[in-house]
Amino acid sequence: MINLGIIGTNWITHQFVEAALSTGNYELTAVYSRKLERAQEFGERYGEVEYAVDLTTFFGISHMSTVYIASPNSLHFEQAKQAILAGKNVIVEKPAFSTPEEMDEIIHLANEHNVFFFEAARNIHERAFKTVADFLPLKDQIIGADFSFMKYSSRYDLVLDGEEPNIFSTHFSGGALVDLGVYPIYAALAWFGMPKESHYFGKLISTGVDGLGIGILRYEDFDVSIRTGKIGDSFQQAEIYLDYGTLVLNAVNSIEEAVFHDRNHERQEKLPIQQVENPMSEEADAFAAVIMNPEDQDLGVLYESWVELARNVNQVLFDMRKSAGIIFDADKK
Ligand SMILES: NC(=O)c1ccc[n+]([C@@H]2O[C@H](COP(=O)([O-])OP(=O)(O)OC[C@H]3O[C@@H](n4cnc5c(N)ncnc54)[C@H](OP(=O)(O)O)[C@@H]3O)[C@@H](O)[C@H]2O)c1
Repeated sequence: MINLGIIGTNWITHQFVEAALSTGNYELTAVYSRKLERAQEFGERYGEVEYAVDLTTFFGISHMSTVYIASPNSLHFEQAKQAILAGKNVIVEKPAFSTPEEMDEIIHLANEHNVFFFEAARNIHERAFKTVADFLPLKDQIIGADFSFMKYSSRYDLVLDGEEPNIFSTHFSGGALVDLGVYPIYAALAWFGMPKESHYFGKLISTGVDGLGIGILRYEDFDVSIRTGKIGDSFQQAEIYLDYGTLVLNAVNSIEEAVFHDRNHERQEKLPIQQVENPMSEEADAFAAVIMNPEDQDLGVLYESWVELARNVNQVLFDMRKSAGIIFDADKK
């Protein structure tokens, strides 16, 4: 059983804890919040739980082995570092870290302290995502792709009222690209590998981050276009163009439907996609398998591939952000 502690008491943490408990491999052991009442309000539905309002006490809980971090983006690095130094595995919400330097340091520290670091990029752990990966041909038969994830955030209403919510703040490493944009970029890098160039054209809002934008990932023989945003809605499907047809997905995360249309419009093939109730249960399952079987070589190889993917996604996000002139406080450190 994995004794889990959590940082961040918003709805996403409830969703992750419920997903983790549903796998039967986790127990909620400890809750950290800056306010005791908030920690208690979060934990009361999960039975016997320890509470902490300072991080040193929290990381000192010796029977807690793994920490899920869902705080504002710019806080992930220091919190993950402290957790690793206390000997805990870390599951860090996307985007895990603001810069390649932060990512490198955490990967290095996790190896040194013999603990696991996972970026909670849920789409790559979906069975449906793997079904698509298995269907895709070799890269020389791919001629392009078009991915989007753009959804209006009610927190943009606060920006319009002159406020600066964390998710739209350069201080907290916010903006559309590093939030919803993470999913299309994870999809592109997981399915096609590391691009040779990446560019982003963002519409910057009053707080200095991108409210929406268009990106392009350049591969040797094809390009992938990315549309992301949090100040508008997109209803576009995702498409992968092959030299013998087109694969159409409802999305690149929470994939519910994938249909291949052949070049001559004569044949359609629906890929077998299974639905899951909680969109975070597959990642919780995947992390548990690695944590609970540290000696398993196949799982070890899989884990290393996730770490490399997280590193590459972080680098691409950084390059794209730089190309659009989006500067975070974390860049200045
Ligand atoms: N995987 C997904 O589908 C998904 C969905 C949503 C969000 N996320 C990720 O989850 C993370 C949290 O996102 P969110 O929208 O929930 O963020 P948020 O509401 O800004 O903050 C999350 C939690 O962090 C603590 N917090 C807030 N402001 C803080 C501050 N100034 N200093 C220290 N702690 C602070 C709060 O907990 P306490 O008050 O209890 O300390 C809060 O509940 C982000 O990395 C985001 O990208 C992932």
